[in-house]
Amino acid sequence: MQTIQNKLYLGGISAEKLIEDYGSPLYVYEEETILDKFQTLHDCITYPHKRILYAIKTNPNLAIAKLLQSKKCGIDAVSPGEILLALHAGFSAEDILFTGNNMTDAEMDFAVKEKVLLNIDSLSRLEKFGKKYPNKSVCIRVNPNIVTQVHQHVITAGPKTKFGINHDQIEEVKKIVDQYNLNLIGVHSHIGSGILDPEKFLLAMEVTCEIAKKFDSLEFVDFGGGIGIAYKPEEKNIDLAEFGQKVSQYFEKFCQQYGKKLTLIIEPGRFLVGESGYLLTKVNTIKYNGARKFAGTDSGFNHLIRPTMYGSYHPTYNASNMQGEIEKVDICGNICESGDLFARDREIPKIKEDDIVAISHSGAYGFAMASNYNLRPFPAEVIVQGGKAKLARKRQSINDLLASYGVRFD
Ligand SMILES: Cc1ncc(COP(=O)(O)O)c(C=O)c1O
Repeated sequence: MQTIQNKLYLGGISAEKLIEDYGSPLYVYEEETILDKFQTLHDCITYPHKRILYAIKTNPNLAIAKLLQSKKCGIDAVSPGEILLALHAGFSAEDILFTGNNMTDAEMDFAVKEKVLLNIDSLSRLEKFGKKYPNKSVCIRVNPNIVTQVHQHVITAGPKTKFGINHDQIEEVKKIVDQYNLNLIGVHSHIGSGILDPEKFLLAMEVTCEIAKKFDSLEFVDFGGGIGIAYKPEEKNIDLAEFGQKVSQYFEKFCQQYGKKLTLIIEPGRFLVGESGYLLTKVNTIKYNGARKFAGTDSGFNHLIRPTMYGSYHPTYNASNMQGEIEKVDICGNICESGDLFARDREIPKIKEDDIVAISHSGAYGFAMASNYNLRPFPAEVIVQGGKAKLARKRQSINDLLASYGVRFD
């Protein structure tokens, strides 16, 4: 992003022009940021046998998937829908790992039919898989019992979460693997999202590798995603050079002990796309309740739920007045819920009606978690680069939305 003559520019185009061309609200992704993030992460891990799988749940936009596919990234998929989208984007079945939680038989059969490797996260599913598909390769997701200091909804390891095969059930895993002659080629863990402390990641690596050691047929260890991004002004992005070096050194040492150079896999989502995305929304109503000023927009938590769901902070700009006099304002949406707030008491250059607000760091878990709540359609998505914008998903029309409810206007 850039500021030119008091206006916000994304990928070389002003936010006002983007809204003029594509309408409001609008998701905008800067291509350069995504490519930059991918390359930096790829390069900082010096261990040579590595693979980055994009956690496509973060943002399943097809254009973003294709962009990462062009960089030889793989995919972490959590549903048949994500597998199909990834295949459509040009990923091959070998590029995809299916980490299904509470997987159904139909989902298991679908992944096997598509030749996608399954990452199984319960003893019960492993048993069902073995029975139906003996001799096949498989990966297991383990719960390494490391709890990250992040929002409780995004902790995915430790005693209180539903994910993974518990670290103390490894003997049972072995029994199932032996009974059905399964080829256990991978051990996976994912401890949570939004990790800004590399030590937590390393600790999870250690525990995961302790478990991995107990299997002699491995080809890879997958340490999941979770690398955070700094949303709040006081937060600092992870020191990637240090992260990459520590992760590489640790894994190199582990492989020496294991006696084989395994592939190191990580599955970032937020890190790759979070900072690339902006939700642009037009202010249509300014009102005061006593001294409190509200800037009411034409979007809401139906399009970006993170502030409402997790109390998340997103850096937010007045794209129409980047450098004006600062005031305190509540920036809210048009959804019929008092929790529909993008920002409370935000200090931001003075906002007036028809200004465009840009909610930054919205590329991860933004559109991906959008809904049609209040029967409001999805916004459009565009990708910007070098002064050019490409429509990456067209705006949902009210007719399309209502058609899915059985309402027809013809
Ligand atoms: C199994 C798995 N891998 C990777 C990720 C990506 O996490 P993040 O976006 O924090 O990198 C998730 C997110 O929940 C996940 O569940």
